[in-house]
Amino acid sequence: MRQRRIGSFSVSAVGLGGMPMSIPGRKDRATSIATIHAALDAGVTLIDTADAYTAPSDGQGHNEELIAEALASYGGDSSSVLVATKGGLIYADPGPWTRGGTPGYLTDAAKQSAARLGVDAIGLYQFHRPDPDVPYAESIGALKNLVQEGVIVHAGISNADTDQIREAHSILGDDLVSVQNQFSPAHTDSRAELDLCAELGLAFLPWSPLGGIHRASDLAEDHSAFGDVAAELEVSPQQVALAWELSLADVVVPIPGASRPPSIIDSAKAADLKLSNEQLANLGC
Ligand SMILES: NC(=O)c1ccc[n+]([C@@H]2O[C@H](COP(=O)([O-])OP(=O)(O)OC[C@H]3O[C@@H](n4cnc5c(N)ncnc54)[C@H](OP(=O)(O)O)[C@@H]3O)[C@@H](O)[C@H]2O)c1
Repeated sequence: MRQRRIGSFSVSAVGLGGMPMSIPGRKDRATSIATIHAALDAGVTLIDTADAYTAPSDGQGHNEELIAEALASYGGDSSSVLVATKGGLIYADPGPWTRGGTPGYLTDAAKQSAARLGVDAIGLYQFHRPDPDVPYAESIGALKNLVQEGVIVHAGISNADTDQIREAHSILGDDLVSVQNQFSPAHTDSRAELDLCAELGLAFLPWSPLGGIHRASDLAEDHSAFGDVAAELEVSPQQVALAWELSLADVVVPIPGASRPPSIIDSAKAADLKLSNEQLANLGC
């Protein structure tokens, strides 16, 4: 499978997003474990999670524990898998999420995530979303300390605008390796952030790359050009969307969510799907 870089890691160009397996409406644990195993079988070596991917009754960390369990029970070699987690959001009931951006909160959260994942150091730890009550530099400073203490290998940020990316980059330097923002055929607002990542050599991880849990299956209905190219290539419109995102810059690594094996098996094929210039032009976005 085509590879891309996130800091010192070489990962599959398409990752797996863990959120649908853990938030309310999720499927049973066996189906979720089978989904993660199917991703690994397909060659996926990036799994995106967060301590906040959970249901109120579970507390923080349902998805991290699920991924740790799936990796431990996998029959094959999972040593090259990068599990990228996040901190800074707290799942609340009534929900959905509240912010936690103080250095003390983030430091404790990262250590708890490492314990749930069963690792000495988290390969990629992402600040989930800016906390309006905490200066951004203070939250990012906590990530710097976490790298220096060896709790995390690399730092990432999420839901950041171009000013915040530049600020985080100036504080973290080479310790900052990725930005994760919403990006899909339906949401192209973060194009400036994607371009800045390409300029700075940071990985850009589109979240909800298929339009989100509730719109992913309607992608061709919502964006007919993707359906047309998919019909021409005899692949799914979801694969075309992911291949289009991959074509935008070689720092892009989409993380489509899945809660069933067939979804990630199909999405993973997009890593090796190349669209022609004519097809890209026909997508019109
Ligand atoms: N940083 C942030 O603030 C943030 C916010 C949201 C999400 N995320 C991350 O981004 C990941 C992806 O976002 P998302 O899960 O919200 O939305 P998404 O990836 O756009 O859509 C997920 C849904 O797409 C379906 N799907 C996946 N592959 C498919 C295929 N090839 N054909 C048809 N349907 C397919 C899955 O269905 P099934 O469930 O039936 O398998 C899944 O529920 C999340 O899982 C999470 O890791 C981050």
